[in-house]
Amino acid sequence: MSTVSLFTPIEFGDLFLPNRIVMAPMTRRRALYGKIPGELNALYYKQRSSAGLIVSESVEVDPFSAIDVPTRPGLTNAAQEAGWRLVTHAVHAAGGKIFAQLSHMGRTAHPSQLLEGRQPVGPSALAAAGTVYTSTGPESYATPRALEIPEIGTIVSAFASAARRARSAGFDGIEIHGANGYLIDQFLRDGSNTRTDRYGGSVENRTRFLLEIVASIGMHWPANRIGVRLSPTNSYQGMSDSDPLGHFSEIATLLDPLGLAYLHIVDPAVQTSGQPVTRPAIRSSFGGTLIVAGGYERTRAEKVLASGGADLVAFGEAFIANPDLPHRWRQHAALNVADKSTFYTPGEQGYTDYPSLSWSLSRK
Ligand SMILES: Cc1cc2nc3c(=O)[nH]c(=O)nc-3n(C[C@H](O)[C@H](O)[C@H](O)COP(=O)(O)O)c2cc1C
Repeated sequence: MSTVSLFTPIEFGDLFLPNRIVMAPMTRRRALYGKIPGELNALYYKQRSSAGLIVSESVEVDPFSAIDVPTRPGLTNAAQEAGWRLVTHAVHAAGGKIFAQLSHMGRTAHPSQLLEGRQPVGPSALAAAGTVYTSTGPESYATPRALEIPEIGTIVSAFASAARRARSAGFDGIEIHGANGYLIDQFLRDGSNTRTDRYGGSVENRTRFLLEIVASIGMHWPANRIGVRLSPTNSYQGMSDSDPLGHFSEIATLLDPLGLAYLHIVDPAVQTSGQPVTRPAIRSSFGGTLIVAGGYERTRAEKVLASGGADLVAFGEAFIANPDLPHRWRQHAALNVADKSTFYTPGEQGYTDYPSLSWSLSRK
């Protein structure tokens, strides 16, 4: 066991982080109309800027994602870019660093959430299981239209364009959202990708879309400012794969030579569904910086760092409820508990009103 802990600084690429505590990407549905981030979002991220690194909520790259689903932010036009500039300035002013998580919903978009009568698209015409949140309540997922090859190129360009805007908005880097059942994940896993062209079949073919996105973002960012998030075993939104351990080790091997900032895997600390733990195999297939997420609390996080199983740990719910999470851990202070009922509701409640430790103490 080494002496690496959550508070051991880390350098990777040309980034220096004062601690190994990452704020996990979390959709909070509180952008302004037009999918534009505003002052409230800037305050939320600023409050959490003592994280070694913040990964933003997922940011939509699809320009046909409807503006009347206003609360999920985008990065497809100048107004959204200006909104994100408020956020990055606030985080930097407080000494933090923030990557933008770029995402395309693919088959998980509902037709009512797309402009100009567009239909949801995916690698194959296979609907996700379950329901999607819409402005009129939960609806079943639609069966997507399988993307034609030229359309895949258009989406790759949309990622590049959003990445260019992210740079001009002042982000410190990009995290490509290849996890949790969104479009890239739909290509990666064989439960949702049954294509027979060069984007389906072998692992190499299923990874082609992701690799093309990395390359296109590379026109605007150095590789060491581009991270990739994967979730090999997450069954959210009807996802499955016949061999997550084997396939994702191979995907990690394909990503290994690219000189990325990091690979970020959602690999639950405790597997409850009989799924394999993929982290050790991915760790040995990918030589770069590894972030792990999924149900980690302090003790488990310290253990995985000390054993060399990962380089940083990302925390989700704990950061929602504890804007000053690193400080609380340093002080061995109690944590606030997250209120799940306000994860996606509008406004300050459950967003910017969780007390920091100094605020709590000053009220005693
Ligand atoms: C409210 C909420 C929103 C989330 N949104 C995203 C997202 O936009 N992108 C993503 O990759 N993961 C998202 N996640 C997953 C988290 O990044 C994280 O992997 C998960 O919460 C497990 O970590 P935890 O147990 O520390 O919370 C979300 C989680 C929560 C609770």
